[in-house]
Amino acid sequence: KNIVILISGSGSNMAAIVKTSLRDHWADTLGARVAAVISNKADAAGLDFARSHGIATQVLDHKAYPDRAAFDAALAQTIDAFDTPQQPVLVVLAGFMRILTPGFVNRYAGRLVNIHPSLLPAFAGLHTHQRAIDAGCKVAGATVHLVTPELDHGPILAQAVVPLLPDDSADTLAARVLTQEHLIYPKAVYELLQKK
Ligand code: GRF
Repeated sequence: KNIVILISGSGSNMAAIVKTSLRDHWADTLGARVAAVISNKADAAGLDFARSHGIATQVLDHKAYPDRAAFDAALAQTIDAFDTPQQPVLVVLAGFMRILTPGFVNRYAGRLVNIHPSLLPAFAGLHTHQRAIDAGCKVAGATVHLVTPELDHGPILAQAVVPLLPDDSADTLAARVLTQEHLIYPKAVYELLQKK
């Protein structure tokens, strides 16, 4: 099984999945490996991590395409280079900051996952941590879910809860949540691959 991870930035969730896959020998236990990391930003810090771990990387700049459909078609073509009957691809969104077209989402139905930094169905969309603070939430967290065409609404695979403390800023809360993301995302990907 080939795991293809899509990033836009620091890629710390991607790195957590790569590290866990190596530490736990997913190649032996699951027949799975992180085959490629694709970024829509050439300067995404996560690309260096992937390269230094011998993982194929590719940059697809969304600004080079006339519209969303054209970008998604190019993205699918890049991903499908890693999708064979023997090695079906699992597409992992890890801080990938582009909305995907229904055509793309449906193409990878059941094998496209995302992590969102809130306890879905609360706070879909952006600025989740500030919105949780503004709402007076006492807990916050993160959700791993299968991706469906409606943004941040697919079936939930895993969640982690953290306390939201009285003096939290969006940044301190984000850091607390991110620590948990790094635990639940590799675990959820592992469990999904086990079922494949
Ligand atoms: C994470 O909080 C993720 O949930 C959100 O964006 C952040 C990405 O962080 N979608 P990283 O690129 O994995 O470090």
